[in-house]
Amino acid sequence: MITVLGATGNVGSQVVRDLLAAGVRVRAVARTVDRAAAGSEPWPGDMGDPAFLRRAFDGADAAFVLLPFDVTAPDHASHQARLGSSVVAALHDAGVPRVVALSSLGAEVPGGPDLSATGYLGSLHEQEGRLATLDARVTVVRPGLFLESFLHSAEAVRTHGVHADSIDPEVALPMVATRDVGRAAAAALLASSAPGVVEVQGAADRTVPEVVAALGPALGVPGATYVRVPDTEMEELLQEAGLSADVARLHVAMNRAFNAGRVRAHGPRGDVTGVLTVQEWAAGVAS
Ligand SMILES: NC(=O)c1ccc[n+]([C@@H]2O[C@H](COP(=O)([O-])OP(=O)(O)OC[C@H]3O[C@@H](n4cnc5c(N)ncnc54)[C@H](OP(=O)(O)O)[C@@H]3O)[C@@H](O)[C@H]2O)c1
Repeated sequence: MITVLGATGNVGSQVVRDLLAAGVRVRAVARTVDRAAAGSEPWPGDMGDPAFLRRAFDGADAAFVLLPFDVTAPDHASHQARLGSSVVAALHDAGVPRVVALSSLGAEVPGGPDLSATGYLGSLHEQEGRLATLDARVTVVRPGLFLESFLHSAEAVRTHGVHADSIDPEVALPMVATRDVGRAAAAALLASSAPGVVEVQGAADRTVPEVVAALGPALGVPGATYVRVPDTEMEELLQEAGLSADVARLHVAMNRAFNAGRVRAHGPRGDVTGVLTVQEWAAGVAS
């Protein structure tokens, strides 16, 4: 039996599907489990509650874990540390022998003062450190930028024909569909042995304008364009969209890390057979 956190999310739902297809029993953990895949065992509860998680992990041969965001958190690092500590304490207490953790490219870089070096990713660096204290076989899955993160601006693209962000339009980044991140995590869970770090780089490095050019037509806006906005303005736009000031600051700090090349893959891209290209992903969004 494998316990999957974030089982209704982008990555976790794919992990659940792949494990069920392989004939594995799955406990599907989320606060709201209505959307948990048929065939999984729904485990409703909050990851911030270590006693609940301890029960969810009890008897598991392996676990898939992640650090979900709360974009409204007034202090993002504290929120992530609270959830991350709860996960690691429960894994430890339940004695789960095998753990696959969703992390990110760039999580190997220390966050520095106020997580200014890599923004959100600094919390994933801290979490990788906590996971390393476990007496368990741990694999951290480090994907590039999720293509699904572009869907947060779908409404702005439809209304104004524009995707705005502070990433340099010339910088090509590993862009990944979350389907392929979930597949990589499930493969690591199902393997008899997996490396300590699995990078998921997607089919190719792409710039933000390239992604917007593919996504625009899928959203019915063929002429959609990318507009790079200055850091301070981007923070203001994100706060207007409902993010806390701290989360907005960390988003822009992460973008600065992208622009400076601090978030990058270290290994070869590997075989990309069957990996979704940006165009294939956008076609899926359209349908
Ligand atoms: N966005 C990117 O480009 C990117 C790149 C690299 C890595 N990452 C990592 O990927 C993570 C996001 O993965 P994702 O896109 O699969 O997430 P997602 O789609 O936002 O799903 C989050 C999942 O976690 C559950 N959840 C949230 N808060 C919870 C809580 N307090 N207790 C229990 N369950 C909770 C959610 O269900 P409920 O809400 O019902 O609880 C949902 O199942 C990020 O947090 C980051 O660490 C992201």
